[in-house]
Formats: sequence, C-alpha cells, structure tokens
Amino acid sequence: MNKKYFYIIITLFVLAMIVSIFLILKKEDVSQDQFLTSKIATPKIAIEESLAIPELLDYRIVDDIKTFELNAQEGDYEFVKDVPSKTYGYNGDILGPTIRFSEGDTVNIHVENNLNEQTTTHWHGGVVPGSADGGVHNIIQSGDDWNARFDVIQEAATLWYHPHQHEETAEQVYKGLGGLIIIDDENSKSLNIPQEYGIDDIPIIIQSKDLSDEGKLLPYQISHMEEIHGFEGNTTFINAQVNPRLDVTTNLVRLRVLNASNSDVYNVSFSDGRKFDVIASDGGFYNEPISLDTLEVFSAKRFEILLDVSDMAGEALTMNINGEPQLSIYAAENLDQKYELPESLNTLVQASPSDEIDRNFDLELLGGGGMMGGSGAMGDSIENTRRGMPVYAINGQLFDMERVDFDVKNDTTEYWKITNIGDTGPGLFHPFHVHATQFNIVEFNGKKPSKLMEGRHDTVVLEKDDTAIIAVPFDKSLEGVYMYHCHILEHEDVGMMGQFELRSN
Ligand code: C2O
Ligand code: CU
Ligand code: CU
Repeated sequence: MNKKYFYIIITLFVLAMIVSIFLILKKEDVSQDQFLTSKIATPKIAIEESLAIPELLDYRIVDDIKTFELNAQEGDYEFVKDVPSKTYGYNGDILGPTIRFSEGDTVNIHVENNLNEQTTTHWHGGVVPGSADGGVHNIIQSGDDWNARFDVIQEAATLWYHPHQHEETAEQVYKGLGGLIIIDDENSKSLNIPQEYGIDDIPIIIQSKDLSDEGKLLPYQISHMEEIHGFEGNTTFINAQVNPRLDVTTNLVRLRVLNASNSDVYNVSFSDGRKFDVIASDGGFYNEPISLDTLEVFSAKRFEILLDVSDMAGEALTMNINGEPQLSIYAAENLDQKYELPESLNTLVQASPSDEIDRNFDLELLGGGGMMGGSGAMGDSIENTRRGMPVYAINGQLFDMERVDFDVKNDTTEYWKITNIGDTGPGLFHPFHVHATQFNIVEFNGKKPSKLMEGRHDTVVLEKDDTAIIAVPFDKSLEGVYMYHCHILEHEDVGMMGQFELRSN
C-alpha cells in the first residue's frame, strides 16, 4: 500500500477517536442541576419547586398574653400542579403556620373549628395544663372555638401540633392537619447557630400520603396490613411538596426534622454520605452535638440537624429519605461563613437509674382475629373496637374516654417501665408517647441509653421485646387529664391509649 494513504488513514482514525472521546466526555458533563433533576424526578411528578416554608404565625399582645389565631378549615391543595385535592389545613389549605414563642411567655392559642366535624388541637411535646393540652377531651365542635392558655415553662425545643380527635386522629392528620411549634429561650438565642426562620433555620415536615396516578389525594383507606403496621402512603412529602429544592446561603443550615406521618419510619441521610450534627431531640438541645451520617426518625419525633455545607459553594446535594432523594439543597456561590458548630449546647442533667419502678406498661396485641397469634384477652374488649380487627393494647386494655387509668401527684418524677412484649409480631414497633412532660430515657434493654436517647424526649420507640425505663417529671404547676399512647395513629385510634390525671395532692 502507498505509504502516504496509510498515514492519512491512520491520522483520520486517530482524529475520529479523539472526536468520539470528546463527545462521550461532553455527554457526561451535564450540569449538576440537570443531573440532580434527572436523579430526583419520579415518573409521576417531575418538579423542583422551592421548598414551601410555613409562615410564622403572627400574634397580638392582649393583657401581656401572646395571642395566636388558628383556624382548622377545609382546603383545595395542589400536590401536583393544576390537580387540586380536597384537604384540611390550619389557616390555609394544608398543614399550618409555625407557632413561635419563648420560655417565660404566657400564650393563648385561639382555635376555630371550621371543619364539618369535631376536632381537637394538641400541642405535642408541650408541658401545659390538661385544660390546654388539646387531648381527646378538649373537643371543639364544628363551628365552635377553643382557647388554649398556658405559661411556657419549658426550654427551647421544636414541638408540633395536630388533631387528637378520638378515633379520627389518623384521618384528620392524613387530610393535612399539622404544624410546627418553635420555642426559644435565652440559651437558644445565645448560640451561634442558624436561627433565621426560613433562611437558614428550616422546617422539614416529612409525611407520606396516597396520591392517584394523576396526583390527587386518595381518600384515607387502610389495608389489612396497615391495620397492623399503620398507614404508609405511596408518596413522600416535605412540607406537603414532592421533591422540592432548598437554596442555602450560609455555611451551616439548621433543619428541624419532624416525622408527621401516621406510621412511617424515615432514615435521613445526604447524597454524598456526609456527616451532620444532631443538636436537639424532642424536648430541646442535647448537651453536645452528635455526629452521624444517617438518622432514624420514627413518627411523631423531632430532631434538629446542623448540616455543614461550607465546602459546597455553588454545588448541590440531596437529602435522602430511606435512600431516595427527596430534597435538593443548592449552596450559593458566596456562602456566608457566619456560624460555628458549638461544642456545648446545653447543661441537662440525666436522671439517674432507679431500682424502683412506679408503673409498668406492657404493649401487646389483643386478640388479633387469629391473624398475628396474639395472646391477649379475646373477650369483649375486641368486640368493642370499631372493626373487630387486630388491636393493640396497653396493659391488656383499650382506651376508654370514661376511664382514668391512674392518678399521678404533680411535682414528682416517676419511673415508668415500658415493654413491647413481643407477640405483636415481627417488624412491629410502637412509639410510646406521654403528654405533659419531656422525659429521660434512663435505661434501654437493661443498658445505658445511646447518645441519641439521651436528652429530653416525649416519645420512645420500642421494637419487639424492647424495654425502656424512663424518668418522667411532672411539673408542680400542672393539673388535669392527659394521654399516653402509641403514636402510630392507626394504633392510637383503635385504642392503644390510656389516660392519667395529674393532681396537686
Ligand atoms: Cu402527638 Cu397524644 O399526641
Ligand atoms: Cu402529645
Ligand atoms: Cu403501636
């Protein structure tokens, strides 16, 4: 062959290689934005709207009392653009505004019920009098209203509010009722951490609901499995949005994570596996930040997270829930490096373990219609339930509005032992919640509690065969009737709940 042609062919071949390599590289070089969008888009709903921040509820000062107005109402909310669904909300179509006040305040929350059914409004995690607690007895009839008046005697924390209408809580929450409460105190204000609401201090309300293929909210309906495990929706929402985006401008971002689902468990992590710091549990700050790369959040629980994005100027990552990207976080080019992770956050003293247990709570399956092999009493308690389906009980009993299970003297700390006695089936857990208090977990399965279990909690999660001992303080100013219950709302609604009365003597 002519040498000249040979060289031409070789040169063309090499050129073709270079061009194709270039083209391949170019194809991979899509922008971070496009990459994230394609990664988080679900077939049904491919949107990336800015994360909606529930507005901060305004108040008036009336006779030195911070007075707030809430209105439970029906709404039309678009989970998917241009596809309205019938929903419930406080002061709007869905969820509710964030209520913010400080330790030392006197607060009155005036709640109007403009729904076509009765409801109650409970301040979950609030250390408030029974008359203001919003439990099953504080019923607000349709068209009626109610005042919850209390002194704020607890430290800075993230609480939440939701309906507590007996046997209807699950459905009313599913339809959209729920909101966040932020309590500030001197300590929280003095820490050099993000506290600009909606800017660097961000509510993250996680829930699941069932959407139809076109994006309409399906009616609340539970399968037989969900009667056992609790309702789990087919779509995950953050602040009632699917796959929203959050643009951040500061080196640290504070995420107030609330699991407001009926029953789901959420494992929260970030797409690059980075570590973050957990700074607060249900009842306020831990003494020190806890560094983790995954945080498990059961229903009703709150954790505050500090996410450090200082190395990410101009870049993005996703917050993943159970491994799926659910929130894109974009860091600005010019990040304001203004915050610092404190070494110390609080000065809590953990209650010490005690050999004396004041009360025992056994969580068990009652009857179960032969389904789960429950060993509890099959008798009339089960016939008293709404559906005759498997029901969970506390100490063999179902909830009864008329029965106060025990009295507690206020101004004391009681030691409670809670056991998930195991025959409730595999994979079944119960988040056990107590009103009126923020407790210490002093022992878990016979051992010192984990770091995350330290601090203050109003809900402790018990998986099969777990036992927790909690030290439960009751403030001397509190009186009234309160609930304790499983916070899987389907369990609560069929009667996995009891009540106690706080008394002064
Ligand atoms: Cu979140 Cu009895 O409540
Ligand atoms: Cu509560
Ligand atoms: Cu339960």
